[in-house]
Amino acid sequence: MDEEGFGARALEPLGALVAQGRGPHAKTEDRWPHMSFSAVGFDALLYVCNIVVANVPSVRLRHLFYRRVMQVKMAPGSFIHSGLWLDCRRHLVIGENSVINQRCRLDARGTLTIGANVSISPEVHLITADHDIAADDLGGRTKPITIGDYVFIGSRAMVLPGVAIGEGAVVAAGAVVTKSVGPREVVAGIPARKIAMRTSKFNYNTKVERHFF
Ligand SMILES: CC(C)(COP(=O)(O)OP(=O)(O)OC[C@H]1O[C@@H](n2cnc3c(N)ncnc32)[C@H](O)[C@@H]1OP(=O)(O)O)[C@@H](O)C(=O)NCCC(=O)NCCS
Repeated sequence: MDEEGFGARALEPLGALVAQGRGPHAKTEDRWPHMSFSAVGFDALLYVCNIVVANVPSVRLRHLFYRRVMQVKMAPGSFIHSGLWLDCRRHLVIGENSVINQRCRLDARGTLTIGANVSISPEVHLITADHDIAADDLGGRTKPITIGDYVFIGSRAMVLPGVAIGEGAVVAAGAVVTKSVGPREVVAGIPARKIAMRTSKFNYNTKVERHFF
């Protein structure tokens, strides 16, 4: 197994790309050829993570697995509810007291950075990878997502690769965010558009205390 959980044989199709440190687990904006192989070891890790551990009724155990095995950087007070779906190890940072609600998909292949006191509602998708539809080989590509402190993202919203969300911004339920959002902006709809500004002080923390889910 290499550092990212890929077996050596499975890495062969990536050849020179991997030697250059590029591939589906790149840390920043990147591209790679379309491919359909799947390393058995990495598949098994994601199965254990997303199907087994994500539904274990113990917050402590889940957090331990995410920190130690998936190498998620979880600051003190940050909290991940049950049903999380990850697509890679590493490249995911969650700031102090931030909460990830049930059944979210956090695709950090292109690096996903979540600030402090961020509230992410159930079934939100934050996606840092996709395919270049203009490329002849439908090549893969990644771009990072950054979410500022005190951001609130409503249920079932989706944030696409390369988006930055400014401090204290709000993403309404069901929105699809295709472009970066300024500090305190409230955005809604598909594609998300500014509908208001948030004017309140940020006199709170989003810390959650739960034991099972
Ligand atoms: C974004 C949000 C916080 C705004 O709340 P609010 O300030 O009370 O806004 P209002 O309900 O007064 O709506 C303001 C306008 O935005 C529109 N709007 C509100 N939410 C919207 C949404 N999700 N999508 C599209 N438009 C929306 C309203 O229709 C209204 O439009 P109008 O002025 O033309 O009538 C809220 O609508 C929302 O999406 N909350 C998320 C709920 C959620 O996911 N909860 C999970 C908690 S864990």
